[in-house]
Amino acid sequence: MDKLVIEGGRKLKGTVQISGAKNAALPILAATLLTQEKCVISNVPPLRDVQTMVKILRSLGVRVQMQDSRITVYPAKYKGYTAPYKLVSTMRASICVLGPLLAKQALVRVSLPGGCVIGPRPIDLHLKGLSALGAKIKIEHGYIVAQGKKMKGARIYLGGPFGSSVLATANVMMAATLTPGITIIENAACEPEVVDLANFLLKMGAKIHGQKTHTIEIEGVKKLHGAEHKIINDRIEAGTYMLACAITGGEISIKGASISHLGVLIDKLKGVGTTIRHSGDTIFVKATRRLRPVDITTLPFPGFPTDLQAQMMVLMCMAGGISVITEKVYPERFMHISELNRMGARVMKEGSSAIIEGVPKLSGAPVMASDLRASAALVLAGLAASGRTEISRVYHLDRGYKTMEEKLSRLGAKIWREKE
Ligand code: EPZ
Repeated sequence: MDKLVIEGGRKLKGTVQISGAKNAALPILAATLLTQEKCVISNVPPLRDVQTMVKILRSLGVRVQMQDSRITVYPAKYKGYTAPYKLVSTMRASICVLGPLLAKQALVRVSLPGGCVIGPRPIDLHLKGLSALGAKIKIEHGYIVAQGKKMKGARIYLGGPFGSSVLATANVMMAATLTPGITIIENAACEPEVVDLANFLLKMGAKIHGQKTHTIEIEGVKKLHGAEHKIINDRIEAGTYMLACAITGGEISIKGASISHLGVLIDKLKGVGTTIRHSGDTIFVKATRRLRPVDITTLPFPGFPTDLQAQMMVLMCMAGGISVITEKVYPERFMHISELNRMGARVMKEGSSAIIEGVPKLSGAPVMASDLRASAALVLAGLAASGRTEISRVYHLDRGYKTMEEKLSRLGAKIWREKE
């Protein structure tokens, strides 16, 4: 297993290029199962989760070619309809083959995903949406088994206790593209990754309206064809580097970032005193000497993204005062608190909130990554801390950030990978 070692205390300076969005690439790769024709997907980040999705496609009988950030999918004669436990258990996003397989094969078996370190992640909304389209769904031997011979468009309210669901919206939207009749998804997710998926489906010949809103309308078509698509860039990666800059007192340019995807983070960073400018697809960030405290509440898009909550907490640890985070998407997503406190942070969990008292300095320490975004937060804390930080279980980070240590090194950080 690898670990990351960081000698903290250096200001980030320079330019970083943002990669394609993992959370757009995964459902889009799954959507290729809706056609029999070749699809070419570019700007795909070469991450472990993407490799897992490719393994799932191959296990279904799909031919897949990978060349750098370009993936060519030939779904011509695939016959498979099972996503096995050994793959689904390593990546929950495997659930997004459910909708396409149901619509195309009229039969699907997907392993139930199992536990998750960021708290309970039920799939009831996925099943509710697909059942409303007429799928007959059973849970058998740890698998979701769904049969979709007589599916029909329907009006579906897809909100749960924490609002809309990104992948449930993706699953129902994909299934509805080949389901006869009109489907209306109410309380649909409108994250940029859902919009990117809809744009790919439109290129395949799907009929979709309202994909940037909370009401998506899909008219089923008989057949979808192959398409080429460039994945949008990763707003969470961009946000992570913006925060890394603010935390280290740096000044960087972030290329390939869309301000329309990052409105709330830009607002909060301005609120703590950071200077943000942009030109085209480049965002310039210049840190302030002393960060002011700030409060955030995570919410579905365009609210503050839960996937930046842990990284934002590190910034709050360095601010001059008390900040509060309220987590309204995953109320238990606070595994990073204890590790940050080992580095000298003062963070207290109170229900689904965290109260953060800023400290003058964090101090480097050996810490353990627990999930993808918590790992990114520990890297940020290591960059800001005095002395040496060693982050073990760094494979979590490799699921979502392309060569983070190389990108940070180019920005002047002292960070490297070692075998444990
Ligand atoms: C997506 O997961 C992302 N994953 C997550 O990114 C992200 O944290 C999350 O959306 C929220 O933005 C991918 O896109 C691959 P949800 P998803 O369904 O779709 C509840 C990362 O670090 N819910 O939008 O699985 C759920 O418990 C990851 O890259 C139900 O109640 O998340 C949560 O409270 C982690 N029933 C809320 O909805 C359901 O059936 C939103 O979750 C489904 C979800």
